[in-house]
Amino acid sequence: MKLWAGRFSKETDAMMDDFNASIRFDSRMYRQDILGSAAHVRMLGACGIIPPADAELIRKTLFEILEDIEQGKIEFDQSAEDIHMNIETLLIERIGQVGKKLHTGRSRNDQVALDFRMYIRDEIKNIKALLADMEQTLIKLSESHLDTIMPGYTHLQRAQPITLAHHLMAYFQMFRRDIERLDDCYKRVNIMPLGSGALASTTYPINRMMVAEELGFDGITENSLDGVSDRDFALELASCLSIIMVHLSRFSEEIILWSSSEFSFIELDDAYSTGSSIMPQKKNPDAAELVRGKSGRVFGSLMALLTVMKGLPLAYNKDMQEDKESLFDAIDNVKSCLGIFIKMLDTMKINKANMRNAAKGGFTNATDLADYLVRKGIPFRDCHEIVGKMVAYCIGKKIGLEDMTIEEMRQFSECITEDVYESISLEACVGGRKVPGGPAPESVLASIESGKAFLDAL
Ligand code: ARG
Repeated sequence: MKLWAGRFSKETDAMMDDFNASIRFDSRMYRQDILGSAAHVRMLGACGIIPPADAELIRKTLFEILEDIEQGKIEFDQSAEDIHMNIETLLIERIGQVGKKLHTGRSRNDQVALDFRMYIRDEIKNIKALLADMEQTLIKLSESHLDTIMPGYTHLQRAQPITLAHHLMAYFQMFRRDIERLDDCYKRVNIMPLGSGALASTTYPINRMMVAEELGFDGITENSLDGVSDRDFALELASCLSIIMVHLSRFSEEIILWSSSEFSFIELDDAYSTGSSIMPQKKNPDAAELVRGKSGRVFGSLMALLTVMKGLPLAYNKDMQEDKESLFDAIDNVKSCLGIFIKMLDTMKINKANMRNAAKGGFTNATDLADYLVRKGIPFRDCHEIVGKMVAYCIGKKIGLEDMTIEEMRQFSECITEDVYESISLEACVGGRKVPGGPAPESVLASIESGKAFLDAL
């Protein structure tokens, strides 16, 4: 017998049962559902809406059910539709009439909003912890590569020399913003919707704040229609997750490039690479490629959620049952991507010599040569022109700017003297960029310190 069967004179068709049921995917919210019900029923007892002894028995039995689920003793029943009715059915099976009082003053509409918010709240904490691990890994790597010179790129063309630490700390900033975005999202997730009822609240003298307090919410929703129909918090999380995946995907792309023999900046550990079934020599960066690929899937979840919510009239509509699978999938994938990425970074080998050689080629010190001429009193635009000509000359001779003799250099500008060589060494190019946010080791160290303070305060 279905809990709502009263007004029906026929059984639901088996195909309809299957189509309608969400237990396949919402069973993962069993813990939140039980804790939410336990808080609700305690409040019903405390407010004299049901006898306190009944409330106590229901609460105790709910916790027993929780333990049985956790020990794998319970199989959910598809004909009970969703996690909410599965738990309620189990409760009634165990304590009969008293169990039937649990759903007083509540609807599945505010119940599912509650469970979903509680579930998301827990997962935000898990994802934040993984992001913090990622940040620790980046700091650890950066600390040992403050002097590891590599080319910085624009348009994927070598541009100016930087260090690996500086490059990695750029990702630190991205993941830091991701953590901050999750914190901000959390504020709107952590609002308690129970008491909204089906849509128009309830006539019972319930105490919503009491429930909110037991469950650790920061406040209660202020409109019952909004309480049951709002899924902004899910959209916000999906957006946060999508942005995390943008960052991971860009990072993946660099790892893939860097591990190619054309770059040879890094070598991924065997434990996080795979081979080819036909080409014996292959070692592929599959972890990074999968992360790059899964970004598409997470963006898809965001788009799916936006599209499900678009155009829904107030308040609850069954369309909204479609909110869970997409978000769960996005959450699962972001967690597994972060987990594997951290291990991949932690174990990769860095080929400092190849990074340095790449920085040496490609005239990455050309800007510094122009800046040298500026210091000799020439306006920057003219310096740019002079150095451009010097670069063209060097390309013809297949040499670097620093390989020109002083006589060759002086053909382009009389202002150039012997001190030019130390001004355009890679160390000078990097070390001279001491401005806050620059690649000089002391500047990167300062950003590492501020990063550590951020992590310590989490
Ligand atoms: N399984 C449903 C969901 O996920 C629970 C709410 C159902 N409410 C209803 N009136 N049918 O949205």
